[in-house]
Amino acid sequence: MKCDILVGGQWGDEGKAKIIDFLSNKYHIVCRFQGGSNAGHTVFKNGVKYVFHLLPSSVLHPQTTAVLSHGMVIYLPQLVKEIQTLEKEGISFEGRLFISDKAFLVMDYHLEIDKVKEQKENKVGTTCKGIGPAYTDKYDRKGIRVGDLFDEGEVLNKIKSCLDEQKNLLKNYYQHDYLVTAEEILEKTLKDFKIIQPYVIDTTYYLNHAISQKNILLEGAQGAGLDIDFGTYPFVTSSSPTSGGAATGTGIAVNHFQKIYGVFKAYVTRVGKGSLPTILSNEENIQLRDKGKEFGATTGRQRSCGWFDGVQAKYSLMINGVTDLVITKLDVFTGYKKIKFCTHYIVDGFKTDMFPPSNQKLKKAEPVYIEFEGWEDQVYQVQTFDELHPNAQKFINYFEEYLGLRISIISTGPEKQDTIVRN
Ligand code: IMP
Repeated sequence: MKCDILVGGQWGDEGKAKIIDFLSNKYHIVCRFQGGSNAGHTVFKNGVKYVFHLLPSSVLHPQTTAVLSHGMVIYLPQLVKEIQTLEKEGISFEGRLFISDKAFLVMDYHLEIDKVKEQKENKVGTTCKGIGPAYTDKYDRKGIRVGDLFDEGEVLNKIKSCLDEQKNLLKNYYQHDYLVTAEEILEKTLKDFKIIQPYVIDTTYYLNHAISQKNILLEGAQGAGLDIDFGTYPFVTSSSPTSGGAATGTGIAVNHFQKIYGVFKAYVTRVGKGSLPTILSNEENIQLRDKGKEFGATTGRQRSCGWFDGVQAKYSLMINGVTDLVITKLDVFTGYKKIKFCTHYIVDGFKTDMFPPSNQKLKKAEPVYIEFEGWEDQVYQVQTFDELHPNAQKFINYFEEYLGLRISIISTGPEKQDTIVRN
């Protein structure tokens, strides 16, 4: 039996969900281990588009069990919405959905403070889904966990104390009135809790008991560039989307992990603030954004686009311990005359292939590129490597040479069948 991890190698939006969906028939359990509804995981099935923010991207496969482990922060109204939408389509969750009693809740006041902070300061460009404030409460040891909702009296006191603090901050620092009461929040939260209560268990024991009998895939959201420790701080999310986060976020010990899939787009994108050294000029940016449909699945924001950043990718492979490289959206480059790949940065006059530790330094990085001939032939829906245009093959072969790792999967379109698997 195996326990594998799949993580985003760049700044999120690498097409992880499609790969999870593609791999789902190999796994009995797929578990999200960090983040919350800041994620927008898109899966296309028979031409229909599904976007999951909290449920694992495998849920369309009735034979897989979905787990939301304690590393996540969960906004119950969103979770209930996702469950009920799929139930209306005939998908049943009975016996195949488990939610950790130790996962922390994103409360309405977390969303409010996230939104107000973004409006007034616009420092990070968050998704406004309350992620930072919910993790702040967790690490400040006053967060509310899913399991706390079993004790209504106790949880009301906790809500009251958190709410008072948030209201003070909103009123006195941001001059913003937030008039909701703790009782109103509790009532609404308990209504949603009733719906998810049958699925709440101790997922740490569940996963560890399952490990000897079932194949498990741990699904990361966001990507290494947004990791709270390794990303372009402070323009990061508030969790650990790298493979280390899979251990702390699930309670599965590291000695169980086998494959670590690292998913990278054939170019890079990011949303929100923060540097992107290989960012394209305005016109080229718009062209790639429109061709690649690079608009946020959660917020609809336009993503900034850049050439593939080998320096960032090498760093990401190192900190994640990637064993299996996955390249997505190769088809987007069809019709390009030239394609670039960044091999080094020049920082303060020195050529380096090391990723700078701060956004301040990254801002100064000038990319050094190697250029490839493009291709006219459609690579959309190609399913074998040999069918790819020779220039596309050259481009892919260079990834392997530069990164020193074989590519296991190449994605050539949004649907499951648009995938090349290399042995
Ligand atoms: P937060 O996670 O909403 O706090 O946002 C922090 C930063 O991470 C912002 O720049 C967001 O745009 C970015 N971010 C969060 N989740 C995702 C994602 O799933 N894909 C891409 N960017 C994300």
